Amino acid sequence: MTHKILLTGGAGYIGSHTYVELAAAGYEIVILDNFSNARPDVLDRLEIITDAPVTSYRGDVRDRALLDTIFAEHEIAAVVHFAALKAVGESGRMPLEYIQTNVGGLLTLLEAMMAASVWRLVFSSSATVYGDPEKLPIREDAQRSYTNTYAFTKLASEQILEQLAAADARWAFGTLRYFNPVGAHDSGLIGEDPNGIPNNLMPFIAKVATGELEKLSIFGDDYNTPDGTGVRDYIHVVDLAKGHVQSLGKLIETGAGHTVNLGTGTGYSVLEMVRAYERACGHELAYQIAPRRDGDIAACYADPRLAGEVLGFEAHRDLDDMCRTSWNWVSRRRNG
Ligand code: NAD
Ligand code: UD1
Repeated sequence: MTHKILLTGGAGYIGSHTYVELAAAGYEIVILDNFSNARPDVLDRLEIITDAPVTSYRGDVRDRALLDTIFAEHEIAAVVHFAALKAVGESGRMPLEYIQTNVGGLLTLLEAMMAASVWRLVFSSSATVYGDPEKLPIREDAQRSYTNTYAFTKLASEQILEQLAAADARWAFGTLRYFNPVGAHDSGLIGEDPNGIPNNLMPFIAKVATGELEKLSIFGDDYNTPDGTGVRDYIHVVDLAKGHVQSLGKLIETGAGHTVNLGTGTGYSVLEMVRAYERACGHELAYQIAPRRDGDIAACYADPRLAGEVLGFEAHRDLDDMCRTSWNWVSRRRNG
Protein backbone atom coordinates (compact mmCIF):
# COMPACT_ATOMS: atom_id res chain seq x y z
CA MET A 1 0.00 0.00 0.00
CA THR A 2 1.24 3.49 -0.82
CA HIS A 3 1.34 5.82 2.14
CA LYS A 4 0.94 9.56 1.85
CA ILE A 5 3.21 11.73 3.97
CA LEU A 6 2.90 15.41 4.86
CA LEU A 7 6.30 17.13 4.81
CA THR A 8 6.24 20.49 6.58
CA GLY A 9 9.25 22.59 5.55
CA GLY A 10 9.68 20.18 2.65
CA ALA A 11 11.21 22.84 0.40
CA GLY A 12 14.07 23.48 2.83
CA TYR A 13 17.54 21.98 2.92
CA ILE A 14 16.89 18.72 4.77
CA GLY A 15 13.23 18.55 3.73
CA SER A 16 14.01 18.62 0.00
CA HIS A 17 16.57 15.82 0.30
CA THR A 18 14.15 13.80 2.39
CA TYR A 19 11.48 14.34 -0.27
CA VAL A 20 13.75 12.67 -2.83
CA GLU A 21 14.48 9.66 -0.61
CA LEU A 22 10.81 9.24 0.37
CA ALA A 23 9.76 9.37 -3.28
CA ALA A 24 12.42 6.76 -4.12
CA ALA A 25 11.04 4.56 -1.34
CA GLY A 26 7.57 4.71 -2.92
CA TYR A 27 5.83 7.21 -0.65
CA GLU A 28 3.44 9.86 -1.93
CA ILE A 29 4.29 13.25 -0.51
CA VAL A 30 2.53 16.55 0.17
CA ILE A 31 4.74 19.55 0.95
CA LEU A 32 3.68 22.46 3.16
CA ASP A 33 6.14 25.35 3.20
CA ASN A 34 5.83 29.11 3.58
CA PHE A 35 9.12 29.66 1.67
CA SER A 36 10.46 31.91 4.41
CA ASN A 37 13.79 30.11 3.98
CA ALA A 38 13.48 28.32 0.64
CA ARG A 39 13.15 29.22 -3.01
CA PRO A 40 10.01 28.10 -4.82
CA ASP A 41 12.11 26.73 -7.70
CA VAL A 42 13.16 23.91 -5.36
CA LEU A 43 9.81 22.36 -6.28
CA ASP A 44 10.73 22.37 -10.00
CA ARG A 45 14.05 20.78 -9.16
CA LEU A 46 12.34 18.07 -7.13
CA GLU A 47 10.16 17.35 -10.17
CA ILE A 48 13.27 16.96 -12.31
CA ILE A 49 15.02 14.67 -9.82
CA THR A 50 11.99 12.46 -9.17
CA ASP A 51 10.53 12.78 -12.68
CA ALA A 52 7.05 13.27 -11.20
CA PRO A 53 4.81 16.21 -10.29
CA VAL A 54 5.12 17.69 -6.79
CA THR A 55 2.05 18.35 -4.65
CA SER A 56 2.57 21.39 -2.46
CA TYR A 57 0.79 24.02 -0.39
CA ARG A 58 2.28 27.43 0.25
CA GLY A 59 1.44 28.46 3.79
CA ASP A 60 2.31 28.53 7.44
CA VAL A 61 2.40 25.49 9.68
CA ARG A 62 0.66 27.61 12.31
CA ASP A 63 -2.35 28.08 10.01
CA ARG A 64 -4.82 25.60 11.50
CA ALA A 65 -7.42 26.10 8.76
CA LEU A 66 -4.86 25.29 6.08
CA LEU A 67 -3.73 22.18 7.95
CA ASP A 68 -7.36 21.05 8.24
CA THR A 69 -7.76 21.54 4.48
CA ILE A 70 -4.66 19.46 3.76
CA PHE A 71 -5.78 16.63 6.04
CA ALA A 72 -9.26 16.75 4.46
CA GLU A 73 -7.92 16.69 0.89
CA HIS A 74 -5.33 13.96 1.46
CA GLU A 75 -5.36 10.74 3.39
CA ILE A 76 -2.17 11.40 5.33
CA ALA A 77 -0.59 8.41 7.10
CA ALA A 78 2.17 10.35 8.89
CA VAL A 79 3.87 13.72 9.11
CA VAL A 80 7.55 14.65 8.90
CA HIS A 81 7.92 18.02 10.58
CA PHE A 82 10.87 20.13 9.41
CA ALA A 83 9.29 23.61 9.36
CA ALA A 84 11.11 25.74 11.91
CA LEU A 85 13.44 28.69 12.33
CA LYS A 86 17.01 27.56 12.96
CA ALA A 87 19.52 30.40 13.37
CA VAL A 88 20.94 30.33 16.89
CA GLY A 89 22.07 33.98 16.97
CA GLU A 90 18.77 35.24 15.59
CA SER A 91 16.84 33.17 18.14
CA GLY A 92 18.38 35.26 20.93
CA ARG A 93 17.25 38.48 19.25
CA MET A 94 13.75 37.22 18.36
CA PRO A 95 12.81 34.70 21.08
CA LEU A 96 9.06 35.10 20.70
CA GLU A 97 9.20 34.51 16.95
CA TYR A 98 11.26 31.36 17.50
CA ILE A 99 9.06 29.99 20.27
CA GLN A 100 5.93 30.87 18.30
CA THR A 101 7.14 29.18 15.10
CA ASN A 102 8.97 26.18 16.54
CA VAL A 103 6.86 25.34 19.58
CA GLY A 104 3.60 27.03 18.54
CA GLY A 105 3.88 25.50 15.06
CA LEU A 106 4.34 22.04 16.53
CA LEU A 107 1.31 22.47 18.83
CA THR A 108 -0.94 23.61 15.99
CA LEU A 109 0.24 20.73 13.85
CA LEU A 110 -0.39 18.20 16.63
CA GLU A 111 -3.90 19.58 17.20
CA ALA A 112 -4.71 19.30 13.51
CA MET A 113 -3.25 15.79 13.40
CA MET A 114 -5.35 14.71 16.36
CA ALA A 115 -8.50 16.12 14.77
CA ALA A 116 -7.70 14.16 11.59
CA SER A 117 -6.69 11.01 13.51
CA VAL A 118 -3.12 11.09 12.22
CA TRP A 119 -0.92 9.81 15.03
CA ARG A 120 2.55 9.39 13.58
CA LEU A 121 5.13 12.14 13.35
CA VAL A 122 8.86 12.33 12.68
CA PHE A 123 10.35 15.34 14.41
CA SER A 124 13.53 17.28 13.49
CA SER A 125 15.41 17.60 16.72
CA SER A 126 19.04 18.49 17.15
CA ALA A 127 22.22 17.60 19.00
CA THR A 128 21.80 21.06 20.46
CA VAL A 129 19.50 19.48 23.10
CA TYR A 130 22.64 17.99 24.69
CA GLY A 131 24.00 21.46 25.56
CA ASP A 132 27.66 21.12 26.53
CA PRO A 133 27.96 17.33 26.70
CA GLU A 134 29.64 15.74 29.70
CA LYS A 135 30.78 12.64 27.83
CA LEU A 136 31.74 11.86 24.25
CA PRO A 137 30.50 10.21 22.13
CA ILE A 138 27.01 11.41 23.09
CA ARG A 139 24.39 8.78 23.87
CA GLU A 140 20.67 9.43 23.72
CA ASP A 141 20.32 9.07 27.49
CA ALA A 142 22.76 11.93 28.14
CA GLN A 143 21.43 14.82 30.15
CA ARG A 144 19.61 17.47 28.11
CA SER A 145 19.94 21.21 28.53
CA TYR A 146 19.88 24.38 26.48
CA THR A 147 22.06 27.43 26.16
CA ASN A 148 20.07 29.49 23.64
CA THR A 149 16.47 30.06 22.56
CA TYR A 150 16.71 27.85 19.47
CA ALA A 151 17.91 24.95 21.62
CA PHE A 152 15.13 25.71 24.11
CA THR A 153 12.52 25.32 21.37
CA LYS A 154 13.92 21.90 20.38
CA LEU A 155 14.09 20.65 23.96
CA ALA A 156 10.59 21.98 24.72
CA SER A 157 9.28 20.28 21.56
CA GLU A 158 10.82 16.96 22.56
CA GLN A 159 9.21 17.25 25.99
CA ILE A 160 5.81 18.06 24.50
CA LEU A 161 6.00 14.93 22.36
CA GLU A 162 6.97 12.89 25.43
CA GLN A 163 3.91 14.19 27.33
CA LEU A 164 1.59 13.26 24.48
CA ALA A 165 3.08 9.81 23.98
CA ALA A 166 2.74 9.11 27.71
CA ALA A 167 -0.89 10.24 27.74
CA ASP A 168 -2.22 8.43 24.66
CA ALA A 169 -0.74 5.25 23.19
CA ARG A 170 -2.05 6.13 19.73
CA TRP A 171 0.72 8.70 19.32
CA ALA A 172 4.02 7.48 17.93
CA PHE A 173 6.92 9.86 17.45
CA GLY A 174 10.29 9.47 15.77
CA THR A 175 12.49 12.09 17.40
CA LEU A 176 15.66 12.43 15.33
CA ARG A 177 18.55 14.35 16.82
CA TYR A 178 20.61 15.57 13.90
CA PHE A 179 24.28 16.32 14.32
CA ASN A 180 25.75 18.59 11.60
CA PRO A 181 24.11 18.02 8.21
CA VAL A 182 26.26 19.02 5.22
CA GLY A 183 26.69 18.17 1.54
CA ALA A 184 24.13 18.07 -1.23
CA HIS A 185 22.29 15.77 -3.61
CA ASP A 186 24.48 14.14 -6.29
CA SER A 187 22.46 15.83 -9.04
CA GLY A 188 23.70 19.27 -7.90
CA LEU A 189 20.10 20.49 -8.21
CA ILE A 190 19.33 20.88 -4.51
CA GLY A 191 21.50 21.83 -1.55
CA GLU A 192 21.91 24.32 1.26
CA ASP A 193 21.38 27.88 0.12
CA PRO A 194 21.50 30.32 3.03
CA ASN A 195 20.72 33.98 2.48
CA GLY A 196 23.52 36.43 3.19
CA ILE A 197 26.55 35.49 5.26
CA PRO A 198 26.25 31.90 6.49
CA ASN A 199 26.39 31.15 10.22
CA ASN A 200 27.46 27.54 9.81
CA LEU A 201 30.86 26.27 8.83
CA MET A 202 30.28 24.30 5.63
CA PRO A 203 28.20 26.92 3.78
CA PHE A 204 30.75 29.54 4.83
CA ILE A 205 33.67 27.47 3.50
CA ALA A 206 31.69 26.89 0.28
CA LYS A 207 31.36 30.65 -0.26
CA VAL A 208 35.08 31.12 0.30
CA ALA A 209 35.68 28.39 -2.28
CA THR A 210 33.48 30.12 -4.87
CA GLY A 211 35.11 33.50 -4.13
CA GLU A 212 31.90 35.07 -2.78
CA LEU A 213 33.61 35.51 0.59
CA GLU A 214 37.24 36.39 1.06
CA LYS A 215 38.28 34.16 3.94
CA LEU A 216 37.03 31.93 6.71
CA SER A 217 37.37 32.98 10.34
CA ILE A 218 38.15 29.93 12.44
CA PHE A 219 36.51 30.53 15.80
CA GLY A 220 39.26 29.50 18.20
CA ASP A 221 42.34 27.30 17.90
CA ASP A 222 42.87 26.74 21.62
CA TYR A 223 40.17 24.17 22.35
CA ASN A 224 41.07 20.90 24.01
CA THR A 225 40.96 19.02 20.69
CA PRO A 226 43.78 17.43 18.64
CA ASP A 227 44.48 20.58 16.57
CA GLY A 228 42.80 23.11 18.87
CA THR A 229 39.85 23.84 16.56
CA GLY A 230 36.25 22.78 17.21
CA VAL A 231 35.25 19.19 16.43
CA ARG A 232 31.81 18.22 15.10
CA ASP A 233 30.02 15.19 13.69
CA TYR A 234 29.27 16.14 10.08
CA ILE A 235 26.73 13.91 8.37
CA HIS A 236 25.87 13.86 4.67
CA VAL A 237 22.34 15.21 4.15
CA VAL A 238 21.44 12.23 1.93
CA ASP A 239 22.36 9.81 4.73
CA LEU A 240 20.31 11.95 7.09
CA ALA A 241 17.37 11.92 4.67
CA LYS A 242 17.49 8.13 4.48
CA GLY A 243 17.29 8.04 8.27
CA HIS A 244 13.87 9.70 7.96
CA VAL A 245 12.66 6.99 5.60
CA GLN A 246 13.75 4.38 8.14
CA SER A 247 12.13 6.26 11.03
CA LEU A 248 8.84 6.61 9.12
CA GLY A 249 8.93 2.95 8.14
CA LYS A 250 9.34 1.98 11.77
CA LEU A 251 6.48 4.25 12.90
CA ILE A 252 4.11 3.07 10.19
CA GLU A 253 4.91 -0.65 10.41
CA THR A 254 5.21 -1.07 14.17
CA GLY A 255 3.80 2.09 15.79
CA ALA A 256 6.94 2.11 17.95
CA GLY A 257 8.21 5.56 18.89
CA HIS A 258 11.94 6.20 19.15
CA THR A 259 14.47 8.93 19.95
CA VAL A 260 17.81 8.51 18.19
CA ASN A 261 20.94 10.38 17.19
CA LEU A 262 21.57 10.77 13.49
CA GLY A 263 25.30 11.23 13.13
CA THR A 264 28.29 9.28 11.88
CA GLY A 265 30.07 8.87 15.21
CA THR A 266 33.22 10.54 13.83
CA GLY A 267 34.25 14.06 14.67
CA TYR A 268 36.25 16.32 12.35
CA SER A 269 37.94 19.58 13.27
CA VAL A 270 37.45 22.89 11.49
CA LEU A 271 40.94 22.58 9.99
CA GLU A 272 40.20 19.06 8.74
CA MET A 273 37.07 20.43 7.09
CA VAL A 274 39.04 23.16 5.38
CA ARG A 275 41.60 20.63 4.08
CA ALA A 276 38.89 18.28 2.84
CA TYR A 277 37.11 21.11 1.02
CA GLU A 278 40.39 22.17 -0.58
CA ARG A 279 40.71 18.64 -2.00
CA ALA A 280 37.18 18.90 -3.40
CA CYS A 281 37.48 22.34 -5.00
CA GLY A 282 41.11 21.98 -6.07
CA HIS A 283 42.48 25.18 -4.61
CA GLU A 284 43.60 26.59 -1.29
CA LEU A 285 41.14 28.37 0.96
CA ALA A 286 42.08 31.48 2.90
CA TYR A 287 41.43 31.51 6.62
CA GLN A 288 42.40 33.36 9.78
CA ILE A 289 42.22 32.36 13.41
CA ALA A 290 39.60 34.44 15.22
CA PRO A 291 38.32 34.51 18.82
CA ARG A 292 36.03 31.74 20.01
CA ARG A 293 32.33 32.17 19.16
CA ASP A 294 30.07 32.71 22.18
CA GLY A 295 28.26 29.57 23.23
CA ASP A 296 30.48 27.20 21.20
CA ILE A 297 31.67 23.92 22.64
CA ALA A 298 34.97 22.16 21.96
CA ALA A 299 33.68 18.87 20.60
CA CYS A 300 30.39 17.18 19.81
CA TYR A 301 29.90 13.81 18.14
CA ALA A 302 27.31 11.09 18.32
CA ASP A 303 27.20 7.58 19.54
CA PRO A 304 25.21 6.36 16.51
CA ARG A 305 24.66 2.78 17.70
CA LEU A 306 21.06 3.16 18.89
CA ALA A 307 19.92 4.43 15.48
CA GLY A 308 21.63 1.37 14.00
CA GLU A 309 19.87 -0.99 16.37
CA VAL A 310 16.42 0.61 16.25
CA LEU A 311 16.25 1.77 12.63
CA GLY A 312 19.05 -0.08 10.86
CA PHE A 313 20.55 3.35 10.24
CA GLU A 314 24.14 3.72 9.09
CA ALA A 315 25.85 6.70 7.44
CA HIS A 316 27.66 5.62 4.27
CA ARG A 317 28.97 8.87 2.82
CA ASP A 318 32.39 10.08 3.98
CA LEU A 319 33.92 13.52 4.41
CA ASP A 320 35.13 13.66 0.81
CA ASP A 321 31.58 12.87 -0.43
CA MET A 322 30.25 15.69 1.74
CA CYS A 323 32.72 18.24 0.33
CA ARG A 324 32.50 17.00 -3.27
CA THR A 325 28.69 17.20 -3.39
CA SER A 326 28.68 20.60 -1.66
CA TRP A 327 31.19 21.92 -4.18
CA ASN A 328 29.23 20.45 -7.10
CA TRP A 329 26.08 22.19 -5.82
CA VAL A 330 27.59 25.61 -5.12
CA SER A 331 29.63 25.76 -8.31
CA ARG A 332 26.63 24.75 -10.46
CA ARG A 333 24.46 27.32 -8.71
CA ARG A 334 27.08 30.04 -9.31
CA ASN A 335 27.05 29.16 -12.99
CA GLY A 336 23.23 29.39 -13.07
P1 NAD B 1 15.59 25.11 6.32
O1 NAD B 1 15.42 26.49 6.82
O2 NAD B 1 16.34 24.89 5.05
O3 NAD B 1 14.18 24.39 6.20
C1 NAD B 1 13.05 24.76 6.96
C2 NAD B 1 11.90 24.96 6.00
O4 NAD B 1 10.74 25.30 6.74
C3 NAD B 1 12.16 26.10 5.01
O5 NAD B 1 11.84 25.66 3.70
C4 NAD B 1 11.22 27.21 5.46
O6 NAD B 1 10.78 28.00 4.37
C5 NAD B 1 10.12 26.42 6.13
N1 NAD B 1 9.42 27.13 7.20
C6 NAD B 1 9.96 27.88 8.19
N2 NAD B 1 8.99 28.36 8.99
C7 NAD B 1 7.81 27.89 8.49
C8 NAD B 1 6.44 28.05 8.87
N3 NAD B 1 6.11 28.80 9.95
N4 NAD B 1 5.50 27.44 8.14
C9 NAD B 1 5.84 26.69 7.05
N5 NAD B 1 7.10 26.52 6.63
C10 NAD B 1 8.07 27.12 7.35
O7 NAD B 1 16.27 24.27 7.52
P2 NAD B 1 16.84 22.80 7.51
O8 NAD B 1 18.30 22.90 7.72
O9 NAD B 1 16.31 22.03 6.38
O10 NAD B 1 16.22 22.28 8.87
C11 NAD B 1 15.04 21.50 8.92
C12 NAD B 1 14.72 21.16 10.36
O11 NAD B 1 15.83 20.48 10.94
C13 NAD B 1 14.46 22.36 11.26
O12 NAD B 1 13.45 22.01 12.19
C14 NAD B 1 15.78 22.55 11.98
O13 NAD B 1 15.61 23.18 13.23
C15 NAD B 1 16.23 21.13 12.15
N6 NAD B 1 17.68 20.97 12.29
C16 NAD B 1 18.51 21.47 11.33
C17 NAD B 1 19.88 21.32 11.48
C18 NAD B 1 20.83 21.90 10.47
O14 NAD B 1 22.02 22.01 10.76
N7 NAD B 1 20.42 22.23 9.25
C19 NAD B 1 20.41 20.66 12.60
C20 NAD B 1 19.52 20.13 13.54
C21 NAD B 1 18.15 20.30 13.38
C1 UD1 C 1 25.38 25.15 15.08
C2 UD1 C 1 24.41 25.66 16.10
C3 UD1 C 1 23.61 24.49 16.66
C4 UD1 C 1 22.92 23.71 15.52
C5 UD1 C 1 23.99 23.28 14.53
C6 UD1 C 1 23.33 22.60 13.35
C7 UD1 C 1 25.54 27.64 17.01
C8 UD1 C 1 26.20 28.24 18.21
N1 UD1 C 1 25.13 26.36 17.14
O1 UD1 C 1 26.25 24.28 15.75
O2 UD1 C 1 22.64 24.92 17.56
O3 UD1 C 1 22.24 22.60 16.03
O4 UD1 C 1 24.71 24.43 14.06
O5 UD1 C 1 24.25 22.18 12.41
O6 UD1 C 1 25.33 28.29 16.01
N2 UD1 C 1 33.06 27.66 12.75
C9 UD1 C 1 34.14 28.47 12.41
N3 UD1 C 1 33.91 29.51 11.57
C10 UD1 C 1 32.69 29.78 11.02
C11 UD1 C 1 31.60 28.95 11.39
C12 UD1 C 1 31.83 27.90 12.26
O7 UD1 C 1 35.27 28.26 12.87
O8 UD1 C 1 32.55 30.74 10.27
C13 UD1 C 1 33.32 26.51 13.65
C14 UD1 C 1 32.52 26.53 14.93
O9 UD1 C 1 33.20 27.22 15.94
C15 UD1 C 1 32.38 25.03 15.22
C16 UD1 C 1 32.34 24.39 13.82
O10 UD1 C 1 32.91 25.35 12.94
O11 UD1 C 1 33.53 24.55 15.89
C17 UD1 C 1 30.92 24.08 13.34
O12 UD1 C 1 30.11 25.24 13.45
P1 UD1 C 1 28.61 25.30 12.90
O13 UD1 C 1 28.58 24.81 11.51
O14 UD1 C 1 28.08 26.67 13.18
O15 UD1 C 1 27.84 24.20 13.78
P2 UD1 C 1 27.72 24.04 15.36
O16 UD1 C 1 28.53 25.02 16.09
O17 UD1 C 1 27.97 22.60 15.65
